[in-house]
Amino acid sequence: MASSIWVLVLAILFISASASVQNKVTDNPADQLVAAINSNRTASKSSSLYSNPGLACIALQYIKAYQGECGAVGGPNAKKPADSEFADTFAPNCGVEISTLTPITGRLLGCQSNYVKPSVAFSEILMKNEKSIEILQSKNHLEVGAAVSGSDGGGPYFWCVLFSNGKSNNSFVLEGHVAKISRPGCFSGSNDDCSGAIALSRTFHLWPIALTGLIVLAYALGI
Ligand SMILES: *[C@@H]1O[C@H](CO)[C@@H](O)[C@H](O)[C@H]1NC(C)=O
Ligand SMILES: *[C@@H]1O[C@H](CO)[C@@H](O)[C@H](O)[C@H]1NC(C)=O
Repeated sequence: MASSIWVLVLAILFISASASVQNKVTDNPADQLVAAINSNRTASKSSSLYSNPGLACIALQYIKAYQGECGAVGGPNAKKPADSEFADTFAPNCGVEISTLTPITGRLLGCQSNYVKPSVAFSEILMKNEKSIEILQSKNHLEVGAAVSGSDGGGPYFWCVLFSNGKSNNSFVLEGHVAKISRPGCFSGSNDDCSGAIALSRTFHLWPIALTGLIVLAYALGI
């Protein structure tokens, strides 16, 4: 009896240790995602995109609008925030000047129960189909913003990429030119060393990650 409890304890310790290794993040995963996007674009003879922190902060607000509901990202129950949310909620939360909001020329969104490296999120979550690749390589974009966030208690993890055709110096301009950092979550272009699971999710419990099945949902919109 006592020995089987010890086996159980050891098993829990082992699972916890491997889960925390998998979830360790260095630097800023949203910046790493932008790097993956730009290297794919330049290798495909498209231009490299400006990493706009105001746009990226809005991408994080876009994620927050899902309130951790992975099931609302893709599939039959897919939802998306109303376009009016950009001016009403997302921009004010980021300190982005409303008058500098510029049309979104593409969006990629993915959600998965466990955390993966940005390069894997890029190729295996966000690049699900032809439509996503078309959006990635579109010549209509000039700038990009990416964000990643976990939810309370770890997963699910959401990845969001927004593209725009704005000019770097007059679109998604931040009041005082400073990005408003908020947790949980990380966004690109902000010079924020957003490393570690604590930055990605408010509290960090391992059980939900170990026990939930793999959910992968993604959607891509050209406009
Ligand atoms: C860009 O990414 C897509 C999707 O992962 C892949 O199919 C394609 O081969 C990549 N292109 C280059 C040049 O790496
Ligand atoms: C933005 O940059 C362009 C080209 O670099 C320049 O012509 C334009 O005057 C700049 N606009 C502002 C508002 O600084």
